[in-house]
Amino acid sequence: MVSLLALLALAGASVASRDCKCTPEDECWPTLTDWAELNDAVSGKLIRNVPVAEPCYFGDGNDRHACQDIVSRWSDSTFQASQPVGYCYPLDYACPIVTAEVTPAGACELGPSPVYTINATQSEDVTQGILFAKKHNLRLVVKNTGHDLLARSQGYGSLQIWVKYIQDGIDFHEEYEPKCPLTNWKGSAFSVRGGYIWGDLYAEAFDRKLIVVGAQDWTVGILGGYLQGGGHSPASRDFGLAVDQVLELQVVLASGELVTANACENRDLFFALRGGGGGTYGVVVSATLKAHPTRPVITHSLIVYPLPDRKDPLATTMALIDVVAEFLSAYPALSDGGFSGYGGWGVDKVDSPISGAPELVMQNGGYSHVFAKLVDNSDDDFEQTQSFVEDTLLQRLRRYNGSGLMISQTWGRYSSFGEYYTAATKVQQRVGYSKMAITSRLLDKAALTSDIDQVKEMLRVTSTNAPDVPEKATIWTMLFLVGGGRVLEDPTAPSTDRFVGVHPAWRKAYLLAIPTSVLPESVGQDAVKGMQRDTSYRKADVMRDLAPGTGSYANDGDRNDPWWTVDFFGDHYPRLRAIKELYDPGHVFYCRTCVGSEYWEEEMEGKEYGRLCEV
Ligand SMILES: Cc1cc2nc3c(=O)[nH]c(=O)nc-3n(C[C@H](O)[C@H](O)[C@H](O)COP(=O)(O)OP(=O)(O)OC[C@H]3O[C@@H](n4cnc5c(N)ncnc54)[C@H](O)[C@@H]3O)c2cc1C
Ligand SMILES: *[C@@H]1O[C@H](CO)[C@@H](O)[C@H](O)[C@H]1NC(C)=O
Ligand SMILES: *[C@@H]1O[C@H](CO)[C@@H](O)[C@H](O)[C@H]1NC(C)=O
Repeated sequence: MVSLLALLALAGASVASRDCKCTPEDECWPTLTDWAELNDAVSGKLIRNVPVAEPCYFGDGNDRHACQDIVSRWSDSTFQASQPVGYCYPLDYACPIVTAEVTPAGACELGPSPVYTINATQSEDVTQGILFAKKHNLRLVVKNTGHDLLARSQGYGSLQIWVKYIQDGIDFHEEYEPKCPLTNWKGSAFSVRGGYIWGDLYAEAFDRKLIVVGAQDWTVGILGGYLQGGGHSPASRDFGLAVDQVLELQVVLASGELVTANACENRDLFFALRGGGGGTYGVVVSATLKAHPTRPVITHSLIVYPLPDRKDPLATTMALIDVVAEFLSAYPALSDGGFSGYGGWGVDKVDSPISGAPELVMQNGGYSHVFAKLVDNSDDDFEQTQSFVEDTLLQRLRRYNGSGLMISQTWGRYSSFGEYYTAATKVQQRVGYSKMAITSRLLDKAALTSDIDQVKEMLRVTSTNAPDVPEKATIWTMLFLVGGGRVLEDPTAPSTDRFVGVHPAWRKAYLLAIPTSVLPESVGQDAVKGMQRDTSYRKADVMRDLAPGTGSYANDGDRNDPWWTVDFFGDHYPRLRAIKELYDPGHVFYCRTCVGSEYWEEEMEGKEYGRLCEV
């Protein structure tokens, strides 16, 4: 009886003073002396953050020339990544740029951005940041490039550890000699020791006539969210996902300790860091990754667009949906035949530069892809490859050509993967929208080939907004044919590959479909909410119905996904949750939709961010 009363009293107490992380509004926030001590501990590398666009506002930071420069570089992901609190997709314009189109509603504030940044240059700085956050009960954020689409590298009222400038070099191993006997890889490898981006490693690999499995866009970070979340790639079909390439990691744990994770040491951590998501279990400061000999490449580029003199636009749109359904049902065969790559489609004019679509398709909608096949000899294999695409795809499409739609294709040949990457996929996407919604679904062979009418229904729903969405958004669905091939191999051999925590659905996925919607920056928040709901429910549901047994790819996922635990992690969730508890029992690391985050909630009060409290 007594103990029950004591328990009730305890429960009452915890309701009265909620367990929250300290924010600048709270008494528990560190004093200036505390911050000065931290600054000393990290040899002067502590930064008090100011919003990127602050020079555009009245006040102490006002600077017209600096502002003009910021406006001109706002959509450049390299520029945003160079700023302590610069992001590709800010979830809230707490301090928007001021232009003719965008008139900011209010003052310029940090909003969801961290308050202080440690500009770390060594793992010791990371340790200092973790210890300080623990001591003062602060929300902690880890950032590399700030590319994250779910704003997992942001955090209101937080301390940030910025790993970009830990740059201890990229080491090349001609023949990798594993320290752990279970790591049965004897090929080449690179050890990436710090916050490098894929462009840095591609340069090293292509110089040596090698292929590494990395991001399509070279500005993405190597060992942060990309690698820890799965990592699809122009090379994943042929060599597996980026997580399948990891031989060893160096990690700073929540305890502040620096450890190795591989198939011999800290195996559970190794499992979790290979697909269980960034910002959750520790801070990765080094990764050793497989490299593969280069191969020649044959590319097939195709566009479908409405003819300017089409008689019946509605009929043309219906025909476009039929054509795209034909493509989707041919994807597994194309992939099994060696092809992978990037496509996309939309029924209307595409305003958003996010699409990367060719000009002809941007004008009135349509479809486009650039698919590539790694071959032994691009001349010898050329004719056979052409006739394969003819049989698998083009024969089914010709009947649509000329009747409202134009279908046109081109072929390319490259002597190496590096040459192909540089020419065909080396794009730097424009970034910087806040008024967007995105969701994604992994589609397996059954989903793509069983029922073409259901595929068409999915295409109809995902390419339009629900009637109750107040403003017309630009909708473009990215079609990433990055699964299939080696991605399908579920490694069970006693090798390093057993310890891969990525969503099991990848092992049957061919296509990653990503409907994106963008509204003009001038529209109000209600319209944005409507668009986001439409994406999280109507669009995501129709894709879930088509491929019920798969999942979503978190790195191209919806931060409002109500079923994120299953969608992002599948059956691995309980195990990942247990590993999180083992390595970070005090929840020093938090990000929304990351493993363990269901124990926290943000007090949002009408905003997209707020104080972080235990549920
Ligand atoms: C232009 C563009 C192109 C893209 N192309 C691809 C692609 O081809 N394939 C693909 O799979 N994805 C792609 N993505 C998605 C990409 O994988 C995610 O945005 C990913 O989160 C980026 O990781 P980052 O470390 O660069 O970003 P950040 O925003 O810095 O970090 C993302 C997450 O990782 C955590 N994190 C960062 N560094 C570390 C670290 N060292 N240790 C632990 N946690 C860390 C952060 O806390 C955060 O949770 C692309 C994104 C963009 C914007
Ligand atoms: C962070 O540190 C690096 C390396 O010392 C330096 O080049 C860079 O200017 C610093 N960034 C900021 C914003 O202080
Ligand atoms: C479609 O028709 C046009 C002109 O009639 C032709 O040039 C083009 O090659 C055709 N496309 C395909 C894929 O056959």
